[in-house]
Amino acid sequence: MIKVLISTLLIINIFLILIIKKKNIKNFIYKKKVKSIDLDKINKIFLNSKIDKNLYGPKEDVIIKSFCIPSNNKIVGMTSNYEAWIISSLSKNSKKIFEFGTCSGKTTYLMALNSPEKAKIISITLKPDSLSVLEKNKLDNKISYRNIVNESIYKNFLFTGSKYENKIEIIFQNSLDLDEIKYKNFFDLIFIDGGHTYSVVESDTQKAFKMINKNGIILWHDYVPGKTSARDVVKLLNQISQKKTIFHIKDTSLCYFKNEG
Ligand SMILES: C[S@@+](CC[C@H](N)C(=O)[O-])C[C@H]1O[C@@H](n2cnc3c(N)ncnc32)[C@H](O)[C@@H]1O
Repeated sequence: MIKVLISTLLIINIFLILIIKKKNIKNFIYKKKVKSIDLDKINKIFLNSKIDKNLYGPKEDVIIKSFCIPSNNKIVGMTSNYEAWIISSLSKNSKKIFEFGTCSGKTTYLMALNSPEKAKIISITLKPDSLSVLEKNKLDNKISYRNIVNESIYKNFLFTGSKYENKIEIIFQNSLDLDEIKYKNFFDLIFIDGGHTYSVVESDTQKAFKMINKNGIILWHDYVPGKTSARDVVKLLNQISQKKTIFHIKDTSLCYFKNEG
């Protein structure tokens, strides 16, 4: 009787550990290979200024124009508000910006709101009726492919009709067909958040490395080891980190690369 009780308690304990430590276990299995660093280490604009001996606060460089989307709005494929603030802050110093994957246009809008007046933002995305142009490659994760379908649903965007729309150009095209050579060494900031299948994120990344200018910044969204729909993004970034200096920004799913030339 005691043996049965001990065994049952042991099994319950193992279950509880598995549930509580689910994230750590997944991280261990999927091996995060990109080094995580604090936000203020990637760019000086994020260094806090001292207000009092126990209080540090943001500098003017990172005060942004923003908005929030409540969950009942049911918009798909968004960045978190913390990630959105980071991208908005980096946009303040970026005159030429490119985004892979527009979706609702949340990030595109924030880039337009916060970049200099004469800045230009180009965002490439798929039209709802153009999915036939995208073939699933053998290596591609099925869930990421299905998400492309679920996220390619907008023809108009959050910025449509706003006074910031004229800073934005939307290209409705499969990014696999984008001619990156015409944008060689051109952009100050590139955000990679298009298709999360291996074939698409790999192609977008290779193109971005050609399109970024000296001192330009590339950001990737969804570096989440253990998240099934992000599996291909994690795989690709783990591979890239063997050849290029990229960092994962702590408390986000963003990875960061600066083209030091
Ligand atoms: C995760 S959502 C983008 C979210 C958006 N960046 C934001 O922050 O709100 C993914 C977007 O990538 C687009 N996309 C997926 N595969 C693509 C491809 N091969 N070419 C162009 N756009 C693609 C989808 O149409 C969708 O709009």
